[in-house]
Amino acid sequence: MKAIILCAGKGTRLRPLTHTTAKHLIPVANKPVLFYSMETIKAAGINEIGIIVNPANKEVFKEILKDGSEFGLKIDYIVQEEPKGLAHAVWVAKDFIGDDSFLMYLGDNMLMEDLTAFVKEFEREDLDASILLTPVEDPRRFGVAVLENGKIVKVVEKPKEPPSNLAIIGVYLFKPIVFEGIKNIKPSWRGELEITDAIGWLIENGYNVKGHIVYGWWKDTGKPEDLLEANRKILEMMKGSELYGKIDEDSELQGSVSVGEGSLIINSVVRGPVVIGKNAVIKNSYIGPYTSIGDDVHIENCEIENSIVMEGSTLMDIESRIDSSIFGKKVKLVRSERKPRTIKLVVGDLSTLELI
Ligand code: DAU
Repeated sequence: MKAIILCAGKGTRLRPLTHTTAKHLIPVANKPVLFYSMETIKAAGINEIGIIVNPANKEVFKEILKDGSEFGLKIDYIVQEEPKGLAHAVWVAKDFIGDDSFLMYLGDNMLMEDLTAFVKEFEREDLDASILLTPVEDPRRFGVAVLENGKIVKVVEKPKEPPSNLAIIGVYLFKPIVFEGIKNIKPSWRGELEITDAIGWLIENGYNVKGHIVYGWWKDTGKPEDLLEANRKILEMMKGSELYGKIDEDSELQGSVSVGEGSLIINSVVRGPVVIGKNAVIKNSYIGPYTSIGDDVHIENCEIENSIVMEGSTLMDIESRIDSSIFGKKVKLVRSERKPRTIKLVVGDLSTLELI
């Protein structure tokens, strides 16, 4: 069995972060979102992964993942020229998939779920498709499935009046027969070839499509608040502390804190769960719960919590406590003592700044 991870979308809701990186490569607890799905797929026994990329982000993925061998995987890159829908993304992977069954994973989704049972059931029961589902409060934002005795009898994409509360969460298993379904569908009202419609075709044509319900935590990390929630969730699972950096005697660490090699904590309070990367400097500061700080970050005379600070950024002499914030790479947030005391900003397109 092979796997494909879909990463060709544009990530518009995460701009400006996605101007320079793909949303799937934004770090959560100092690890790119995509790494979590790669680990889950590998743990389910699948080692051959095709990453569906767009022409603009292909190189950045290649630079980080290379041929996959560092991760114990074999990785191929498949370019989808335009994001014409999930079924279209599967179609462009046709040669890569060949005659194999495959797992399809939406690259911006994070789930805390071991997929081994899902894969084993698919193989044991010789299914044509199996779809991971979870009960949700508002199914209108998702693809929704109707189950009868474990079999899916109906699927609808983002229904105004959902026929059930079972959302499609973005992990699917297919036999290559799904390509026949994709051939037979038309673009939806949003102009995309929907995988939900291809699943509908399989059902209508008598193929064996099963729903596999899971109840664990799951998040579509499409918006900044989703990234912060995912960050909290992963940090919450930290057990104990790992301290490779240097913590001076005027500093205090509470709860689970991880400090990478070469980092310095000087006269600061760090209240976990917090993860700090390599070669960072935290001086005269308070780092509160649910904060991830990347490599080479410098934080001095600041208070920050529930936030993500990516590598190479500097936060210095900020009076107000920083909360629920995301800083991209090499960002500088500093206080100026020059007169007149004005706010001076160089802010990229589509940034959000809330000042008091
Ligand atoms: O999050 C779960 C939902 O994902 C399901 O409930 C829906 O049934 C399913 O259609 C999908 O809906 P979204 O509207 O959330 O999909 P989105 O456009 O956000 O795309 C999901 C991922 O697939 C994202 O990582 C980008 C990638 N993608 C998307 C398109 C449209 C591609 O690689 N190529 C594409 O053409």
